[in-house]
Amino acid sequence: MAVDLLLGLQWGDEGKGKIVDVLTSKYNIIARFQGGPNAGHTLVFNGKKHVLHTIPSGIFHDNATNLVGNGVVIDPVIFKGELDKLEEQHIDYRKSLLISRKAHIILPTHRLLDAASEASKGKAKIGSTLKGIGPTYMDKTGRNGIRVGDLELRDWKERYRALADKHESMIAYYNVDIEYNLPELEAEFFKAVEVLKSIPFIDSEEYIYQAQKSGKTILAEGAQGSLLDIDFGTYPYVTSSNTTAAGACTGLGVSPNNIGDVFGIFKAYTTRVGSGPFPTELFDENGATMSRVGHEFGATTGRPRRCGWLDLVALKYACQVNGVTQLMMMKGDVLSGFKTLKVCTAYNYKGDIIEHLPYNIEPENVQPIYTEFKGWNEDLTAMTEASELPKPLNDYIDFLEKELEIPITIVSVGPDRKQTIFR
Ligand code: GDP
Ligand code: IMO
Ligand code: MG
Repeated sequence: MAVDLLLGLQWGDEGKGKIVDVLTSKYNIIARFQGGPNAGHTLVFNGKKHVLHTIPSGIFHDNATNLVGNGVVIDPVIFKGELDKLEEQHIDYRKSLLISRKAHIILPTHRLLDAASEASKGKAKIGSTLKGIGPTYMDKTGRNGIRVGDLELRDWKERYRALADKHESMIAYYNVDIEYNLPELEAEFFKAVEVLKSIPFIDSEEYIYQAQKSGKTILAEGAQGSLLDIDFGTYPYVTSSNTTAAGACTGLGVSPNNIGDVFGIFKAYTTRVGSGPFPTELFDENGATMSRVGHEFGATTGRPRRCGWLDLVALKYACQVNGVTQLMMMKGDVLSGFKTLKVCTAYNYKGDIIEHLPYNIEPENVQPIYTEFKGWNEDLTAMTEASELPKPLNDYIDFLEKELEIPITIVSVGPDRKQTIFR
């Protein structure tokens, strides 16, 4: 069976966790392929909210196996925290959770390096979640990293020490004011590593290969969003992994010709957390309404998310780069009550009208050009059938489908599992 992918098409937080949870009943295996605890994937069911950072969003279903793939970076301390929360909910993760031996480990000093690097950048900071993501992927590509499989080696603590010592000298090099107590952080880290070791470590590419061969259904879960991709995002204001479809091939060991559907998730408007360009960002009452009604605060850091109109130029680009086959539109309910809605359908780029995403979308180069739509007043949150959706919303959806040439198969009308309309 081909592996289906689910990924975010904007700057993250599109609602990936919710939809993976909704779709899990159709899959045998849910596999995270990149990112790490910079992600915060929210699931809501039975009146309860759950936030996952590293663990795949299929974990609340009894029949699915959840794999943390080789492309993921794992912070044992945060991972342990996630397991503790699952235990509180009486979720029996021991029979359904697996970790790739090739996934890299985030060390306490990776987090400190992240903080030092950001502090040294001043105003030009990336707005990182400070989870050590960048420094860990740097050690991976620099061929210095410690992998999950290394934790099974007898000398891993010596390798740990050498790397942590090197990190400490790098932190000193940044010459910024960062206070830390490494022995304390390490005690917590080593304790968490022992917990991590209680989860089976596997050769996940072999596992995925055999699962595909035997007809198991697999859904690959992305983190972040396409505009945060290290290659195709708004560099340098991006994360350090390939968040796009190709990342699932390298992050799980799936060959490109074994990819099936690519589910692309987007919000009916746009949000971004952290620094970087955002052409359709709103600084007015409309943006404040999106933020308030949509509860737009980061699931990992609690930072307020910047809000703006839907950017179709950027969305088209993301669909192209990912080869999206089905779209899922989230948070349509948040737009109820707007008299007029705007969608950015072109950019004025240094005086030229363009419809593709250029190299640089800094505000001095790009002004959005909008198409206006009539809004709707109906509350969508109790709707369960596509036939109930108001006409102006259907017009909005039809326009997007026509422009993107991809069907919108799910319209989400609230955070709960049940607030999901299939078209
Ligand atoms: P992810 O990182 O892509 O999984 O998304 P997050 O969990 O970071 O952010 C999405 C937020 O929107 C969460 O608080 C969800 O509970 C919420 N959410 C998801 N879908 C909808 C929706 O259709 N309507 C509303 N109002 N909230 C939603
Ligand atoms: P999910 O999976 C939204 C953003 C950060 C920052 C930039 C780099 O929940 O959609 P990093 O910590 O990777 O060094 O941060 O990327 N960022 C996210 N924004 N959702 C996420 O994940 C994000 N993960 C990272 O805010 O701007
Ligand atoms: Mg999130």
